[in-house]
Amino acid sequence: MSLQSRRGGGLLSLLFLVGGAGFLCLPFLLVERQAPSLDGADHARTLSELDVPFATAVEELAGEDPELDLRPWLGEHVDTYFGPGAARLVEHGLIDAKKLELGRELYALNCAGCHADSGDGGGPAARWLAPRPRNFRKGKFKFTSTATGERPLASDLLRTVTEGLAGSSMPSFKLWNAHARESVVEYVRYLSMRGEFEELALQLARDDEELPDPAEIFDLVRERWSPARLKRTFPAVPETTNDAASVERGRVLFNDPQRGSCFSCHGPLGRGDGPTAGDYKDDWGYPIRPRDFGAGVFRSGNDSQALYLAIATGIKGSPMGSFATMYSGPEIWDLVHFAQHIAAQGKQGGQRP
Ligand code: HEC
Ligand code: HEC
Repeated sequence: MSLQSRRGGGLLSLLFLVGGAGFLCLPFLLVERQAPSLDGADHARTLSELDVPFATAVEELAGEDPELDLRPWLGEHVDTYFGPGAARLVEHGLIDAKKLELGRELYALNCAGCHADSGDGGGPAARWLAPRPRNFRKGKFKFTSTATGERPLASDLLRTVTEGLAGSSMPSFKLWNAHARESVVEYVRYLSMRGEFEELALQLARDDEELPDPAEIFDLVRERWSPARLKRTFPAVPETTNDAASVERGRVLFNDPQRGSCFSCHGPLGRGDGPTAGDYKDDWGYPIRPRDFGAGVFRSGNDSQALYLAIATGIKGSPMGSFATMYSGPEIWDLVHFAQHIAAQGKQGGQRP
């Protein structure tokens, strides 16, 4: 297995240049040409533009020290653990093999255009989208019911696939039957576990300056995704009454500098204009802004439970942390009611509190 640069675009670029008409296509042709591919193991896998940093890092490491050439290592061990049928994952109860094949097909047709074949979020449509399609290879997902730092439940991903993410280009797949949606989620989980395995291998090879032990890395990934470990953290407390008093308590909490300092990012009235609003990037390296509640659009839905989860468990990979230990359950409900109140007012197009 080898990392090769694709060649042969040179003549084509020249023709385009001469013709003049192809001028605009040139940057894309160049991107295509630069993209190396990790060939070898049969994963029906094409590295996209965003995966290039991973492939390049692997190549660079091998260049620095030939003993640390991860390319044959990846070919062999990714195949062992994630190869046809994903037998090891199935054996450890991490993946339902029955869903994987259909999931793979549905993914290739419906998701890879944005999320890419490898799940790195760099599909052909990705460059025009903000927010960017999720890169699944870090194991991080934003809209989950598990504690901070934990992997998502399949049911969390199923919710996203079913409902879509409002205010982003992530569509809803509500028209699919449950088996189809569950299958594609299974394949997303598979891509995510495999991505983590590969990225951890690179990190460990760099840190320890020796080729990592594949069983050790597999155990790390297995532990992170173990069904016994992943627990739904909601609901802590049943919803309190949503009235003017609750909204007002929420507003005060929202603006209390001794507590969560929500206002510092979201602004005093939750309009996404706090003093630090322009300062953030997400864990995938893209600029991100605090939500403007007045737009009336919340990614994971306007329903109370989704908003409670966003505040209690945080939005992983974003600067919006978990506030579960800072506020009591009833206080989180007050914050939810405040956010919903601003959203309702924004929709009516007027009147701030
Ligand atoms: C038109 C582009 C597009 C298509 C097609 C698309 N997605 Fe997405 N998807 C996105 C974007 C953009 C986000 C990130 C939104 C954000 O960060 O707020 C996303 C996020 C996600 C997430 C992450 C949710 C989280 O909690 O972090 C999952 C899972 C997901 N998509 C699965 C899928 C699956 C499965 C398909 C195909 C059935 C699919 N997507 C098709 C654009 C797309
Ligand atoms: C450090 C900055 C920061 C702080 C502090 C912060 N947030 Fe956020 N918040 C964000 C960002 C950024 C997003 C958008 C995340 C995304 O789209 O991935 C967000 C999103 C949200 C959302 C929208 C969830 C959705 O589904 O769209 C709500 C509600 C919210 N925050 C409430 C709060 C509350 C309540 C507090 C205080 C307890 C708070 N935030 C504190 C940065 C912050």
